[in-house]
Amino acid sequence: MFKQLIMIKRILVLFAVALLVSVSFVNAQNEDWSAPSAADKIVNPLKGNSDATKKGKILYQQMCAICHGDQGKGDGIAGAALDPPPGNFITKKVQAQTDGAIFWKITTGRPPMISYAEFLKEEQRWQLVNYIRELGENK
Ligand code: HEC
Repeated sequence: MFKQLIMIKRILVLFAVALLVSVSFVNAQNEDWSAPSAADKIVNPLKGNSDATKKGKILYQQMCAICHGDQGKGDGIAGAALDPPPGNFITKKVQAQTDGAIFWKITTGRPPMISYAEFLKEEQRWQLVNYIRELGENK
């Protein structure tokens, strides 16, 4: 009897956690996505490194262009049906963000974009930040 009660309690706790997670997920989709201000202080160790930017371009074409588009305009084929739509990197909205904030977003992700913390090394994420800057210059 006692064991059954503990079981029921566990199920209830699991249920409550699932509910909380889904509620915060729904809310997140309605808000503009901004990085925490602490992210602005992360310094880009590869700033101005054109070799890194070239590597970022290759990674970008392999992993990001499908949603964000070849020129970073948010018009990739896999991005067309997404809500919210993929970011358009040539806009002021994106380019006005610090390198640290962009790095934080690539690292953290927000559905439908995944977190790249496990798929890309820190260095590769900075290479991508460099390339996103370059895309911003090609208006
Ligand atoms: C499955 C499609 C998809 C892929 C693949 C993808 N993204 Fe995204 N990305 C999105 C969506 C959708 C958003 C908008 C999320 C939001 O606003 O909540 C986004 C947002 C972003 C933002 C924030 C833009 C802003 O407005 O501030 C950055 C930076 C970004 N992605 C970088 C990348 C990089 C770099 C890659 C490749 C490693 C990548 N993304 C791969 C779908 C994708």
